[in-house]
Amino acid sequence: MQIRVPATHGAVRSWSRTAASHIRGSAVDPRPTWLVQADTALTPSLLAVGAIGSPLLSRVAAKALRRRPTQLRASGTRVRDVVPHGGPTVVISGASQGTGRALALKFAQDGYNVVLAARGAEALREAEDCCQAVLKPGRLVLPVPCDITSPDSIQLLLDTVAARFTDVRVVVCNAGVCMTGDFLNTSPEDFQSQLNVNFLGHVTTVRAFLPELLRQKGRSGPVPTICFVNSFGARVPLPDMTAYCAAKYALQGFADSLRLELAARGVHVATVHPGVIRSDFRTRAQWRGTAAGNRKSAMDTLLDGQSPVSSLVTQSVEEVAEAAYDAVKTQQSEVVVGLPFRTMLTAYGVGKALGLA
Ligand SMILES: NC(=O)c1ccc[n+]([C@@H]2O[C@H](COP(=O)([O-])OP(=O)(O)OC[C@H]3O[C@@H](n4cnc5c(N)ncnc54)[C@H](OP(=O)(O)O)[C@@H]3O)[C@@H](O)[C@H]2O)c1
Repeated sequence: MQIRVPATHGAVRSWSRTAASHIRGSAVDPRPTWLVQADTALTPSLLAVGAIGSPLLSRVAAKALRRRPTQLRASGTRVRDVVPHGGPTVVISGASQGTGRALALKFAQDGYNVVLAARGAEALREAEDCCQAVLKPGRLVLPVPCDITSPDSIQLLLDTVAARFTDVRVVVCNAGVCMTGDFLNTSPEDFQSQLNVNFLGHVTTVRAFLPELLRQKGRSGPVPTICFVNSFGARVPLPDMTAYCAAKYALQGFADSLRLELAARGVHVATVHPGVIRSDFRTRAQWRGTAAGNRKSAMDTLLDGQSPVSSLVTQSVEEVAEAAYDAVKTQQSEVVVGLPFRTMLTAYGVGKALGLA
């Protein structure tokens, strides 16, 4: 069987758009077209084997179907007509808008191939167009529909990237969803969903891509780097944000520990903590409890510039992207974005040391 993966830039665009269309339709299938085509070709024969054979054969067939993406990639002989693309490559989760998109633009301007991962196909397409406009000659931008709360989805992202690019240098774990609510109105399911997207999704992403980064050790070019766009709420406790802060603190512990472990293996780990970003995060933020309306309107007042402190404490996506980009380029370990937030962090640290916080 021959699987054709488009090799040219233009073809990649149509490939990605077709793949994204699976998400828009009722049957959600975020896989790239070549994989869907492979599935269409292989599924009947594998299922037929299962149908005429024993239940054992059915299980074998089902297992083969589940494992096929990895096997296709690993076999090397089955994925034909793929021309892997050279040049430093950055993979960014949550790259369809906000900070992730602004960061994708910076890497595109710097001569990277850029892989954009997020769930929404429409916003991904817009981000792709923005990156195309600033991309350096010979570089690619590749939008890949991906939900980081699904390990299968991350595996498909990895398979897609590994088939297309030879030199993954930077992985930015940026996707995130905000949740606000008093503790008693924040359910165990809320905690689980916050952990899934703001913590475990990044752990799974790193587990998938770390071997790609480790492979670059010793090669010329940018230092292989994992960058976490975390939060001020990972360093300082915030009221009515127990689930969000718990997940972000967990991510901080993971990042700090991972940095120690990977230092000797040639992979840098950077963490960036934004304060309050003037992004569209409100559209997917989750509000809990009876005071949710008040908190939401207070946030609106702040973000829409109607509060006296708006300009002081809110940050543009470009400002946060700049900080993350610098952290990667200059191998900084941890950056808190904005003087007010650095000051609050210091005050909190002093207060804690004195037993006051
Ligand atoms: N906004 C703030 O005030 C603030 C403050 C501190 C820290 N942060 C953190 O900074 C990061 C960026 O924030 P932002 O305000 O720029 O975010 P944003 O504008 O809300 O964008 C979030 C991005 O993440 C994607 N995303 C969400 N859930 C996802 C999932 N399960 N799988 C894949 N992609 C997913 C979104 O696309 P889809 O929904 O289409 O998937 C979107 O591209 C986040 O980690 C956030 O927690 C934000």
